[in-house]
Amino acid sequence: MTSLVLAIESSCDETAAAVVADGHRVLSSVVASQVEVHAPFGGVVPEIASRAHLEHLVPVVRRALVDAGIDSPATQLDAVAATVGPGLIGALVVGVGHAKALSLAWGLPFVGVNHLEGHLYASRLEDPAFAPPFVVLLVSGGHTLLLHVLDHGRFDLLGRTIDDAAGEAFDKVARLLGLGYPGGPAIDRIATQGDASVVSFPRGLIDEPGFDFSFSGVKSSVLRYVRSHPDTSVADIAASFQEAVVDVLVTKARKAAAQAGAGALCLAGGVAANSSLRARATAASEEDGLALYLPSRAMCTDNAAMIAAAAWSQLQRSGPSPLDVAARPSFPLVATVGR
Ligand code: KG4
Ligand code: ZN
Repeated sequence: MTSLVLAIESSCDETAAAVVADGHRVLSSVVASQVEVHAPFGGVVPEIASRAHLEHLVPVVRRALVDAGIDSPATQLDAVAATVGPGLIGALVVGVGHAKALSLAWGLPFVGVNHLEGHLYASRLEDPAFAPPFVVLLVSGGHTLLLHVLDHGRFDLLGRTIDDAAGEAFDKVARLLGLGYPGGPAIDRIATQGDASVVSFPRGLIDEPGFDFSFSGVKSSVLRYVRSHPDTSVADIAASFQEAVVDVLVTKARKAAAQAGAGALCLAGGVAANSSLRARATAASEEDGLALYLPSRAMCTDNAAMIAAAAWSQLQRSGPSPLDVAARPSFPLVATVGR
């Protein structure tokens, strides 16, 4: 029997809702971006994000239900899920409160989902081959992790950033290059017109044993370079910076897959939308004989379909969550991971 999950995502600056069948078939996925309201501030303003979620959530959920052809949620849906963390506390509270209210009103189970686990399941929406075990490079605005996914819900931490997340580095470097917010897509775009060999920026921890990352060095190095070379084109600097970050990410991911003896590599999180990272990871996995689980760009960045996919897996493993589950700004996926 088909199982339908409505999921809500509101951990940062996207208000999203989706209906997904059997954990992988997307019946609807609606994302209301808040980019325009935060752009004048050069980044996400938490208080504004919470208010915008409150405004957008009801119409976004309604749209997701209509698009999925659901006119009687209480009888047609099987569960209501929401991201409970990690993320901005005020933003999370809006989505979690809304999802709990719907689950109570419709008499449906509630599932509280870890946002990072949601990113992991993005590949399941589009790739029927997606199945653990695999090594995942999870690169978002707040996290940079290398995990060995042993089974659904079972992760070994291989490495993580010791300072900035990869997406955070993209955002900060974009800001200092005057490319605005959101920074990752802006650097990706302008880098296509630049020459990545113009500046050799540092590749933090690339030759160190282990799988931890560091991106604060490359960020400071870009700042120093911009100040001392005002005539170098922004496109060349952006391309060179992107090359340095992607080089480290791909080098460590393939080493991690080899050490873990994994047959598959998965990319997840907003930075996995980066063209250069996608191209390099595709070439590397072909060379190393690895299967590659690579979500479409739209499913890499925050959306609710991935949250529904993770919720479905969680329901199979451990059933619904209690209704008193709290929003968790810090929610480690593995004991020592997360903020
Ligand atoms: O996963 P996500 O949508 O939200 C978080 O959970 O953080 O990731 C957002 C991050 C931002 O730092 C954004 O700049 C980055 O992903 N990003 C990109 C690209 N698209 C989004 N970074 C590099 N290239 C891109 N094309
Ligand atoms: Zn995310």
